[in-house]
Amino acid sequence: MFAGVMRRAAVLALAAGLSGCTPLGLNTASNRLDGMEPARPAVLDAFGEDRPVLSAADWTQRRAPLLRRAFEDQLYGPVPAGVKAHEVSRRIIDAAFAEGAGTLEEIEIAIGDGDAGPRFRLALALPKPLADVDRPPRAAPLLLSESFCGNPGHMGAPGLAPPRGDGGCENTGFMARVIRLIFGVHIIEAPVADILARGYAYASLYPSEIVGDNAERAQADLAALAPALAGSPAPTSALAVWAAAYSWALDVLEADPRIDASRTAIYGHSRHGKAALISAAFEPRVEAAIIHQSGKGGATLTRSYAGESVAQITRSYPHWFAPAYAAYADNEAAIPVDQHQLIALAAPRPLFVSNGWKDVWSDPNGSFRALQGADPVWRLLGAEGLTQADLREPVSGGVLEFFIREGGHGVRSADWAAFLDFLDRRL
Ligand code: GCU
Repeated sequence: MFAGVMRRAAVLALAAGLSGCTPLGLNTASNRLDGMEPARPAVLDAFGEDRPVLSAADWTQRRAPLLRRAFEDQLYGPVPAGVKAHEVSRRIIDAAFAEGAGTLEEIEIAIGDGDAGPRFRLALALPKPLADVDRPPRAAPLLLSESFCGNPGHMGAPGLAPPRGDGGCENTGFMARVIRLIFGVHIIEAPVADILARGYAYASLYPSEIVGDNAERAQADLAALAPALAGSPAPTSALAVWAAAYSWALDVLEADPRIDASRTAIYGHSRHGKAALISAAFEPRVEAAIIHQSGKGGATLTRSYAGESVAQITRSYPHWFAPAYAAYADNEAAIPVDQHQLIALAAPRPLFVSNGWKDVWSDPNGSFRALQGADPVWRLLGAEGLTQADLREPVSGGVLEFFIREGGHGVRSADWAAFLDFLDRRL
């Protein structure tokens, strides 16, 4: 039985396929940069009433808070902050998980004070302690993700609780095979054994447990969440809450002595890539982020016109954004901020922005120009930014990394190999 978001994704993929080559993944992203509009406004120039940024202090003290507010006003609505989550219960699911590579636990987490707030489940896989007799076992660096399918499918562990809400999706059966064929072998299930073997703890949650991924459910879930966030402005978009969900998971994970809280990375694909980018921009506890094929409202420019438009995204997914964003449908020129400024809020931390040549819908070219536009902030803060001059240049030592592979929208083995290499380089 195949349920929830993946069934909708398959239907959408087919529907999109009927309406043009770009959504179907038949076009190839352009690698041309000459004559293309650079990201604007230039990231260190005057912004509204704010003077040009001349120093690191100007950026961190003056510009960064102003930009966070601008992204809340124009795109995402209030991003919950300052309200913590806590562990309600925990159970061991498998003491010899992934053929003995580690252990698997499930943690029930409640948002806000007390246990009455909305809850979600976090699946946590930990690598076996390193068998080094001379030293106590080291705490593991962490990769935290949000999934499309829910924890049992994503971790390949049917013992985990099925997701609340829409039931998520399974990783076996005919539809799962079709989805894997279209969107890649890891679209449902992460290569957890490989991740553990490289020494990382891997945690995942299904953000639709908190705010459901359709317009109707999202409205009800946002309303249900508001009381738990008393004292902070009520969120108006799913993406803002999904971004905060990374922070709520970190509240619990970073208190775990088996996890190295100073080496925490997050990962998200597509809509969850948008959420992960917002989290990287707003949450200082994130040390590194992998933003995969996040597209419009994520790491590609709003003012880039190769892929999905503001009109298309706000029509199909009104609940992802604050209502203000829809005002820029067919009027992108008027938006006062663009996504290079959101990316820049992650500086000087390592950021890996990954793409597929055939995934023009998420606009790799606009994403490369967004990284170029964000780069001056890494340099201002004393880090090597983007060192690639062209979309085709391989990753080469910059802290702001652009990765592109063959093929379309989805999660493939080549993606995970690149993600893990990035983590090895940067964590
Ligand atoms: C749709 C949507 C994209 C989104 C993607 C996904 O294609 O148009 O903006 O990134 O779904 O989340 O898979």
